[in-house]
Amino acid sequence: MTPPRRFFVETWGCQMNELDSQRMAGQLMQQGILPTRDPGEADIILLNSCSVREKAEQKFYSRLGEYRLLKKDRRDLLIGLCGCVAQQEGERALDRVPDLDFVLGPARVGELRQVVARRRAGERVVATGFPVERHYELDAISRHGEYKGMVTVIEGCNKNCTFCIVPQTRGPEQSRSMADILREVRHLLDYGFREIELLGQTVNHWREPDGGMDFADLLDRVAGLPGVERLRFVTSYPRDFTPRMVEQIGLHANICPYLHLPVQSGSNAVLRRMGRGYTREEYVALAARLRAARPDLALSTDIIVGFPGETAEDFECTLELVREVRFSAVYAFKYSPRPGTAALRLADAVDDASASARLQRLFALQEGIQRRINESLVGQEFDVIVTGWGKQPGTQTGRTPCHRVIHFDAASEPAPLGSMARLKVEKALPHSLLGRRLEVPVAAN
Ligand code: 5AD
Repeated sequence: MTPPRRFFVETWGCQMNELDSQRMAGQLMQQGILPTRDPGEADIILLNSCSVREKAEQKFYSRLGEYRLLKKDRRDLLIGLCGCVAQQEGERALDRVPDLDFVLGPARVGELRQVVARRRAGERVVATGFPVERHYELDAISRHGEYKGMVTVIEGCNKNCTFCIVPQTRGPEQSRSMADILREVRHLLDYGFREIELLGQTVNHWREPDGGMDFADLLDRVAGLPGVERLRFVTSYPRDFTPRMVEQIGLHANICPYLHLPVQSGSNAVLRRMGRGYTREEYVALAARLRAARPDLALSTDIIVGFPGETAEDFECTLELVREVRFSAVYAFKYSPRPGTAALRLADAVDDASASARLQRLFALQEGIQRRINESLVGQEFDVIVTGWGKQPGTQTGRTPCHRVIHFDAASEPAPLGSMARLKVEKALPHSLLGRRLEVPVAAN
């Protein structure tokens, strides 16, 4: 067998998966195997899958079907199933897909090198489950082309939301130590990253493994490190927000005034059946406290429509909540039954046509709200982190401190990716802004 030279990774799903892909890429690159954008040229194809909704899982299987064909004339090609479908399917995936070479679960990402070596020695490997000791090498993360440095602070999830597959696919909660986290953040700062994003399925449930510190302390310590210009964290669980955490968000100017806070539903009856552990009133009160601490705070959310038993009145409560809280973005999904979850046993499924109609009403409502929020920003100036190139030649994109996408003309001298630029908002689009670059120095935090 000739040694592999090129790898290709396709990633679905959440930020955790994005970071896991960077970790897998890093391990291969340390062995001199380089990335390619062309799967046809790859010797190793990694599919980093998501199983949070059935659609995500289907997309993954159809793509796998396409890549399998490449094996016809490339007998050495290795195809690995990684991510949450890997954990969920395990051994079954190897039976179902004869051309699959290995299955690597999210908690075993650090073992990719060993798994590839075992496969090359002839074994079809299934590496799943949740070992207590995990390989995590800071030097084996390929952050190439990224403007933000992502740092896992807590893995897994102990919540038992009745709709959600994540506790099964990512395992029980496990916090990293403060010392480990600070070491990784400093490492990123040394490499010139200005934006740090802390990651966890329930990021604000982080606890020092052997001590009394919680996420408020972690925010304070990370935000206090010199060089952290922007600090973000995803995803927060409403019930886990303490007054001290809210206070930290008010205290540190470099904590971005943007928070993703999934509400899932505006109806208390539905929230109870989802097992979320908070009421609509508690959520609205939390949003108000956060905004009192940080008046410029943009909140985004996730909403599931058509959860079993959701009545027309329940759905009206959700619309009412969306009107009341005025989110900067709403990520809404039709409920998708997931294997092994408690919601499968709930009666009164909502038919697909009603769920689709509700989703459309929610999108239409949010579009109007978002347009008005975006219009209110016209004329304002922001320090923007430059994140990429626009679709139109000569244009670039960036993110405002509130994490809104802003497009601007690169003019004669494009701003380097990852740098800060001062922009004035000139126009509001439904999902983004148009801005003009100003020739003034960017304010330091
Ligand atoms: N069906 C639909 N949406 C789901 N989500 C999680 N599980 C399901 C499901 N079974 C949504 C939630 C979550 C987001 C990541 O995905 O809104 O916050």
